[in-house]
Amino acid sequence: IYDDGWTAVEQYLSDTVVRPDHALIDGVRRAREAGMPAIEVAPTAGKFLMLLAKIGLAKRVLEVGTLAGFSTTWLARGVGEHGHVITCEREQLHADLARANVDRAGVGSRVDIRVGPATDTLRQLVEAGAEPFDLVFIDADKPNNLNYLTAALQLTRSGSVIVLDNVVWDGRVVDADSADPNVRAIRESLEFIGTSADLDATAVQTVSSKGWDGFAIAVVK
Ligand code: DHB
Ligand code: MG
Repeated sequence: IYDDGWTAVEQYLSDTVVRPDHALIDGVRRAREAGMPAIEVAPTAGKFLMLLAKIGLAKRVLEVGTLAGFSTTWLARGVGEHGHVITCEREQLHADLARANVDRAGVGSRVDIRVGPATDTLRQLVEAGAEPFDLVFIDADKPNNLNYLTAALQLTRSGSVIVLDNVVWDGRVVDADSADPNVRAIRESLEFIGTSADLDATAVQTVSSKGWDGFAIAVVK
């Protein structure tokens, strides 16, 4: 990844403002040992999610894409001890590591990890008439972004917040002719967000140890 000092700045901001977090540092080490990709949220971004949950007084959070449970841990911290996070993960091995990580971080009782394709889990939640979620974080396989967004609209209420990760994709998002299914799906999801009559949205680009990327954030009207 091209890095113009972003990683050093992120480390500084993380150390200075977010502060060292041993529960998560150990979890990252275990994720690496398990051979998992280094695509988890950075601590600065994870804490941003925690603060979003706090600002919105979110008690019910839905996450799509658990991986090893880092963003899950931050969201679970944000909802407080009486809050809940339902998180969807396709891979049993990832879910097992996430379970260990959220438990070690002391927030495991707030976290429900649903293993299987998230499209199935979300459909089940809709069919079960699940109570609306206050905050939805979508951070999974990009080709399903639009499916996840559509489900998120069915699972939220006016005032709920939806965050979609990885909307810049190293700048490739501007390539309208891209054959890359990720780029095509990211563009399609951004166009949906931008034109939906049900959403007020923006998108913010970021640089970090994860490279050049960004997120979209929307409030349900
Ligand atoms: C990838 C996925 C992510 O969710 C992310 O934040 C960064 C990278 C990836 O699949 O490469
Ligand atoms: Mg992501």
